[in-house]
Amino acid sequence: MEVKTFKNPEATAKAFADYLCEKQLHVNRLNIALSGGSTPKLLFQILVQKYLDKIDWAKFHFYWGDERCVPPTSGESNYGMTHEYLFQHIDIPEENIHRVLGENKPSEEVLRYGQLITENLPSINGLPQFDLIILGLGEDGHTASIFPHQMELLTSKEVCAIAEHPTSAQKRITLTGALINNAKEVCFLVTGEAKAEKVNEILNITGNCERYPASYIKPSHGELTWFLDKTAYGK
Ligand code: 6PG
Repeated sequence: MEVKTFKNPEATAKAFADYLCEKQLHVNRLNIALSGGSTPKLLFQILVQKYLDKIDWAKFHFYWGDERCVPPTSGESNYGMTHEYLFQHIDIPEENIHRVLGENKPSEEVLRYGQLITENLPSINGLPQFDLIILGLGEDGHTASIFPHQMELLTSKEVCAIAEHPTSAQKRITLTGALINNAKEVCFLVTGEAKAEKVNEILNITGNCERYPASYIKPSHGELTWFLDKTAYGK
């Protein structure tokens, strides 16, 4: 595991943009799962401002680590946010964007999206393998849409599962912990003082870390890197 810290959220997002830009130079295709949240939004803005012509977007196949079960036009949609802040600004074939159909019935969409991932990604250790999964960290220690009250989603043998937000009860589709831990590489992008306590407990294996789903993200054969700003790192 590697921990990289930066002076503020912008520097953190820029460092990850540089990392992504370098990574895509060495591959013909990159199967990447995105997360929602504030740090990815900042990353997309920086990619559009400074990296438009430095990245061959046709190499990317975009998926989501989690998505809210809402229409793509909803302000809650992770796809919708990505379309607004990234996709509508870059030259990427429509067929490279594999969104969760949030408008579908969750019980049907979880099967469709899981099948899509299984068909489109290489199978390693008996599970589909992403090249890169970007994750955020919730203030309760959740990641993707694996929340502390649904720890069983960490060990489910399924590719993805239906999750439920603990307070709003909003249905989500999330990759399972097993699928996330089967990735070649997982990068956490975490910024802001509000995350410092959980980051400290998780990285130092202390406090109530065992209650946080993010503590169990340890790619079995892949790389794990935390991109943190100083306030999230807490030092
Ligand atoms: C989502 C995200 C979620 C997010 C965390 C952190 O769908 O909301 O995938 O897991 O990464 O909640 O969000 P912030 O970075 O906005 O705090």
